[in-house]
Amino acid sequence: MLRPLADTHGRVHRDLRISVTDRCNLRCTYCMPEEGMEWQPRHELLSFEEIERVARVLVTHFGIDAIRLTGGEPTLRAHLPVLVERLAALGTDLSITTNATTLDRMAGDLAEAGLRRVNVSLDSLRRDRFQELTRRDDLPKVLSGIEAALAAGLTPVKLNVVAMRGVNDDEVVDLAAFGREKGIGVRFIEFMPLDASGAWERDAVVSQAEIVEAIDAVFPLEPLARGSAPATLWRYRDGGGDVGVIPSVTQPFCGDCDRIRLTSDGKLRTCLFATDETDLRALVRGGASDDDIAAVVAAAVGEKGPGHLIGQPAFIRPRRSMSQIGG
Ligand code: GTP
Ligand code: 5AD
Ligand code: SF4
Repeated sequence: MLRPLADTHGRVHRDLRISVTDRCNLRCTYCMPEEGMEWQPRHELLSFEEIERVARVLVTHFGIDAIRLTGGEPTLRAHLPVLVERLAALGTDLSITTNATTLDRMAGDLAEAGLRRVNVSLDSLRRDRFQELTRRDDLPKVLSGIEAALAAGLTPVKLNVVAMRGVNDDEVVDLAAFGREKGIGVRFIEFMPLDASGAWERDAVVSQAEIVEAIDAVFPLEPLARGSAPATLWRYRDGGGDVGVIPSVTQPFCGDCDRIRLTSDGKLRTCLFATDETDLRALVRGGASDDDIAAVVAAAVGEKGPGHLIGQPAFIRPRRSMSQIGG
């Protein structure tokens, strides 16, 4: 029977983010150390059958209507189009967040398998800076990956830019101009304390106010109403499309949060910043029924906290970093 996946703060959850791998082929300084992480062994990852099972239970019991594949870099998971095809059969808004390095060869297969759209993470359009930031010289691959996604109809393509002071804050306007030119919605993300090295500091966060001021000075903006998505949106007054900011630090959207996460090793997280997880893999591998799984998920969501406390003394960093949780 369909029932809302509600918590005690009045939020109903309809958005499922599934991490399919913790591995990545880039080494963004704000995410991973140069040597990478200790990767999860293969047998700890949920299989495609197990992922599909959990997703199906959530869709049929709770009306989850959006599924996003994340990582690590999700396209590194072998045979990803096979999983996409299975999840597409559930009929949700199926999307992926990727660094786009593999899209020039995979976009067509993913679109054919039923993927609807992609969000691409890209923090600089300057080749030397991209290399410094990601520790790989892959900007040309990313740019051709974006073209391939557009050509395959994986639209709307959105660009995610993590804005960091002294790193790429001088490129905000260039990145906005790139989005206008390509017809791609750019969303600038406030840097969050989820980097594996623990180097995050409040001063490194470029705020929504600063980002909007810089863009507005060159391309005048007007605000758009905020929907349920994490981004606050503005429209270019000259009709050049729109641009967004995900202000996780200065204006947390926790009060409107409608997301739950499944990590690649099968743990349910009710928040990016949750300090505890619920082991769904053990349930699935232990022979639990669909109703058992749904009951455990409902109970975990029932205990979801009100939100994160980034920047406040009581803030506790999650034990796992972004690539291990799923972006
Ligand atoms: P759309 O459906 O296209 O709006 O996708 P999205 O913005 O939900 O997905 P995407 O994976 O592109 O996420 C963009 C960024 O938002 C991520 O890189 C994170 O930095 C941030 N983000 C995503 N989910 C959460 C969340 O639950 N909490 C917080 N604080 N930030 C999040
Ligand atoms: N703060 C904000 N966003 C981050 N991402 C990765 N690490 C961080 C962080 N510390 C973003 C990536 C990508 C998504 C998966 O998460 O840029 O868009
Ligand atoms: Fe990889 Fe994404 Fe982390 Fe960069 S942010 S290292 S692309 S998982």
